[in-house]
Amino acid sequence: MFGKFSRRQFARLAGFSALGMASATPQDSATQPASDRRASTSFPSGFIWGTATSAYQIEGAVKEDGRGQSIWDTFSHTLGKIRDHSNGDRADDHYHRYKEDVGLIKGLGVKAYRFSIAWPRVFPDGTGAPNPKGLDFYNRLLDELLANGIEPFATLYHWDLPQALQDRVGGWQSSETSKAFANYAGYVAERLSDRVKSFFTVNEVGRFVNFGYGWGIDAPGLKLPPATLNQVHHNVALGHGLAVQAIRAKARAGTKVGPAENIAACLPAIDTPENIRAAEIATRELNAGFLNVVLTGKYTDAFLKYAGKDAPKFTDDELKIISSPNDFVGLNIYAPQFYVVASEKAPGFDVLPFPASFPRMNSDWLRVGPETAYWVPKLSAKIWNIDTIYISENGASADDKIAADGNVYDLDRIMYLRNYLTQLQRATAEGVPVRGYFLWSLMDNFEWIYGFDKRFGLYRVDFDTLRRTPKLSAAFYRNIIARNAVDV
Ligand code: BG6
Repeated sequence: MFGKFSRRQFARLAGFSALGMASATPQDSATQPASDRRASTSFPSGFIWGTATSAYQIEGAVKEDGRGQSIWDTFSHTLGKIRDHSNGDRADDHYHRYKEDVGLIKGLGVKAYRFSIAWPRVFPDGTGAPNPKGLDFYNRLLDELLANGIEPFATLYHWDLPQALQDRVGGWQSSETSKAFANYAGYVAERLSDRVKSFFTVNEVGRFVNFGYGWGIDAPGLKLPPATLNQVHHNVALGHGLAVQAIRAKARAGTKVGPAENIAACLPAIDTPENIRAAEIATRELNAGFLNVVLTGKYTDAFLKYAGKDAPKFTDDELKIISSPNDFVGLNIYAPQFYVVASEKAPGFDVLPFPASFPRMNSDWLRVGPETAYWVPKLSAKIWNIDTIYISENGASADDKIAADGNVYDLDRIMYLRNYLTQLQRATAEGVPVRGYFLWSLMDNFEWIYGFDKRFGLYRVDFDTLRRTPKLSAAFYRNIIARNAVDV
């Protein structure tokens, strides 16, 4: 059934992690008059344009105001783990420069900003006594955002688990961490939901579990056997469900919550009804370990059969908690991961191998497949009956050299964004319920195992001086937002 896979694709298969389809009738814009053409390239009115970051990648100040240590502090300080031998100790120094950074966000014309809260700032030991100074930083940030007319979307877990929890209970290997996460989520939601109306629970389960607990290439650097790894997946799903319940119990009425997942992106290799159906099956099955169980309350039969004796141990009550209703689903969309065709053999799809010459951005994993932004939300909405989708991340790495005149002409990133956004608009024009889009990332930052070597920002950061300079893509994005339309 499966051919040769990239690292990220394989992460999906290893976790056998979820999704779906529909038929498309793209409009032929070349034959339309100019005014109709503009209407046909517009996003729905009220579409939420945003940008995104995460705490460990930008904040720095890792020892300030009582912040506890996270597994990423430990990991990035372990020799050989980060390609350029850097760490997040200073990163973008956003902790001290947040006012300037809110100015940068405002300069894009976005309406929304997705950031993450560092759990070890709020609960330095993961559980127990909270650290009020930790939450104070987010209070200051929120006030600044709101004063500038920017709606905050907060992520509660973007990988920086308190080290104390890793040491005490093995982190996500134990459901104690799931409970601790819910306690932290409820605590934060109670205090911030006067200003934060939307919370993302966990970011990219499919990545941090497989990379961190399966292959040992992300924090905490463990290589656990399949049964334990499946249990880690289950504990994270349980943590998500418990956090949804805690937020409902503690936050102000009307607070919205949902996950932000790097869904395994399955696309029809050629758009035939059979292949589209195959992409639907593949989406569900290859996201079985998180999104599908979260959205349906069941592990699929194929998932349980494939896992066999290594399947996670769970109870019916846990499945109910895991599938507590969400208000939205966040999808992080970057590369096309699986081009599929229909197959007679169960479960009904074959994955095609990628040719070596398939185009990529400036990261080996980041293949360019603009139609990912069309198929993934479309199939997701259909198979899981989702009525509110956010593209919680999309963006690209580029080499971002400074030209002789001091500017960064990142035409490759613009090419990537223009094509992905054109496909996303195609989806919204067909009624796919995508309500907003968060471009990754506001500014260059600490890109995990790549350190400062990979740049995804709309603003270039000089990591010596910490000066921020807008790239050409910042002007490109501002223009799209101002017109609420793609510039084709
Ligand atoms: C997503 C993450 O996987 O992609 C971000 O949510 C990350 O935190 C981005 O920065 C790029 O990934 P990478 O692995 O190239 O740093």
